[in-house]
This record gives sequence, structure tokens and C-alpha cells, in this order.
Amino acid sequence: MHILVTGGAGYVGSATAAYFLAAGHRVTVYDSLVKGHRAAVPEGADFVQGDVGDAAALDVLFQMGQFDAVAHFAAFIEAGESMQQPGKYFRNNVANTQILLDAMMRHGVRRLIFSSTAGVYASKDAPLVEDDPLGPASVYGETKLMIERMLQWYHRQMGLQYAALRYFNACGAMLDPEGKPIRGEDHHPETHVIPLALQVPLGKRDAFYIFGTDYRTPDGTCIRDYVHVEDLASAHVLALEALGNGRACMIYNLGNGRGYSVRQVADIARQVTGVDFPVVETDRRPGDADMLVASSERISRELGWEPRYPDLHTIIASAWAWHSAYPDGYGDQP
Ligand SMILES: NC(=O)c1ccc[n+]([C@@H]2O[C@H](COP(=O)([O-])OP(=O)(O)OC[C@H]3O[C@@H](n4cnc5c(N)ncnc54)[C@H](O)[C@@H]3O)[C@@H](O)[C@H]2O)c1
Repeated sequence: MHILVTGGAGYVGSATAAYFLAAGHRVTVYDSLVKGHRAAVPEGADFVQGDVGDAAALDVLFQMGQFDAVAHFAAFIEAGESMQQPGKYFRNNVANTQILLDAMMRHGVRRLIFSSTAGVYASKDAPLVEDDPLGPASVYGETKLMIERMLQWYHRQMGLQYAALRYFNACGAMLDPEGKPIRGEDHHPETHVIPLALQVPLGKRDAFYIFGTDYRTPDGTCIRDYVHVEDLASAHVLALEALGNGRACMIYNLGNGRGYSVRQVADIARQVTGVDFPVVETDRRPGDADMLVASSERISRELGWEPRYPDLHTIIASAWAWHSAYPDGYGDQP
């Protein structure tokens, strides 16, 4: 299939584009580079720079591309920022996705894989299943939930086939068969726990900050489920196959079913790096739920998804390989 990958110069999108290519598909990456990196786009993919909110540019793209499916990663992703600037998130995530969906409908492209998030759920003390109550703690999570609802209506009214994949915490780096890192996380600003921890032993930060120690969890820090970016990528390949086989509305969690507190992540990062870096406890930031851990039983049962890298030590070791080899990431910070 020929797949349009929006946001394919970003962290998860670029890894997934590489997986689509390896599975024998043709890939066109469409990214404004507002956050992404040209160097992250895998060799073998076509690249078009443009904005998902630009309907005229999308018309040209769809006319030229003859796409069979779209994998839509392009979004703003910082939950904290979304609480300060909600409009920025509703516009780029929700409004621009609607512009993309309408372009798809105009050009007869009816298969979509959408990057949703664990942030659509209300916090729960046990692994979340897809039918659990929804209740985003952040504007960011709300934007993803609004899009999921929109997809349901485009399915009913316009025949859209879609898979909404609710990633838990994406992490880790892609390594080549010799173990050399080939792409990894490079966000500006960085807000994700593992790269923030690894930047301390690299000398890029003074300390690792824990935001909030009074959450309703055993050690008081937030608990999350960390899933390797390559395992997310492989799930997209399976979802694409399922869409090709006529499946229509799929909603799947993607996580490992095991939660780690922020303190535990810091401890494992210290073990992996061998550096006993300083950890500072500070106040909560808005928009964080107590605990989000996935049951991914549904996608395992229905599509046969099995994570290859479920172990957090392995995940952090791959991230460390990337960050220590490329302390400045792709080196093109805007
Ligand atoms: N990283 C995670 O832990 C995580 C967890 C859950 C869900 N997600 C979702 O997965 C997707 C990818 O996340 P990521 O970590 O790779 O983010 P990222 O910021 O690395 O990648 C997003 C990409 O989208 C591009 N982009 C943003 N707005 C655009 C627009 N209007 N037009 C064109 N390109 C645009 C950016 O330039 C960037 O390359 C996002 O939709 C995010 O919400 C990520």
C-alpha cells in the first residue's frame, strides 16, 4: 500500500514509517517540521514539507499520492503546555485533523490509523481496558478524545475505516541489528520522563525533577506504562493489515501492562547509566493523572500484537544508547 504518514519526521511517526517500509509498503511523510526532524525520515520514504491544516496543499498531495491509507501522527503533544494554551491544542490537534479527514473524504481515501493516547482515560488503579471510563486530565487528552469521537461519526456517515491506537508512554530508541542507535527521541522542549532522566548523566540538566509526590500511588509519584517505540511501530503495521482486510472501527491500547512510578524510572535510569544522578522532588504540574497502565489484551487477541521489548531496563538501555551517541539529538533544534 502507499501510506501517507503525517508527522513522520517526529519520534513515533519516523519509527513507524521505517516499519511500514520494512513491511514492503510505500511511504510518503508529510510534516511541517514544526517539531520534527528531516533527518529522522527514513531512507526510502518520500518527504513533503507541509501543514496538515493547509487544505489546498493536502489537495495537491492527495492528487499526486494516490494513497491507500493515512497514518496520522501530526499533533502537539505536551500535556502541560495544553493546560496553558488550550486553543493551540484544539486548533492543531482537533481542527487540523478535521481538515485532514475532509481531504481524505474528497479524495476517496477511507483508511486511517490515528495516534491516540492513554490520556483519554480517567486514572484507574488497575490496568485499563478500552471500555473503561474516559476522562482526560489534560486538554491534550481531551483533544485526542474529541478526535476519536469525530472518527466514529466519519465512520458512520462517510464510511471511514479507522484504528485509534491509544499509546501509553512511548519510549526507547530504534537500534540497527548491530545495536547502533538509528533514531530516537528528540523533543524541544523535552517533557518525557526517560529522556529527562538521561539528560542528567549527560550533563545537559542539573537534576531530574519529580513533579508531585502526593499522588494516590504507593510511593506518591505518578505511575505509567512504558512502551517501546518499535513495539508501537509494529502495532501500526498490524492495524494497517487489518484495515486492508476490511476491519472498520478499532480502538486498541498499546502498553505492557506493567506500571512504574517516576521514582522507579529514575532508579532504573541510574542503574542503566551507572550514574547516581541527583533527583529533586517538586510540586505537581497540572494535567497529570495518578496512574495509567494498559491492558493490551484486546490487540494481542485480535491482531496478534506481542511487544518485543517489554522490559524497562532494555527500553532505557536503548534510549541511553541513542542519547549518549547523539546528546544533541538530530542536531537541528529550531
Ligand atoms: N510520545 C508519546 O509518548 C505519545 C503517547 C501517546 C500518544 N502520542 C501521539 O503520537 C503522535 C506522535 O508523537 P511523537 O512523540 O512522535 O511527537 P513528535 O512531536 O515527535 O512528532 C509529531 C510530528 O508532527 C509534526 N506536526 C505537528 N503539527 C503538524 C501539522 N499541523 N502539520 C504537519 N506536521 C505537524 C511535527 O513537526 C512532528 O514531526 C502524536 O499524535 C502524539 O499525540 C505520543
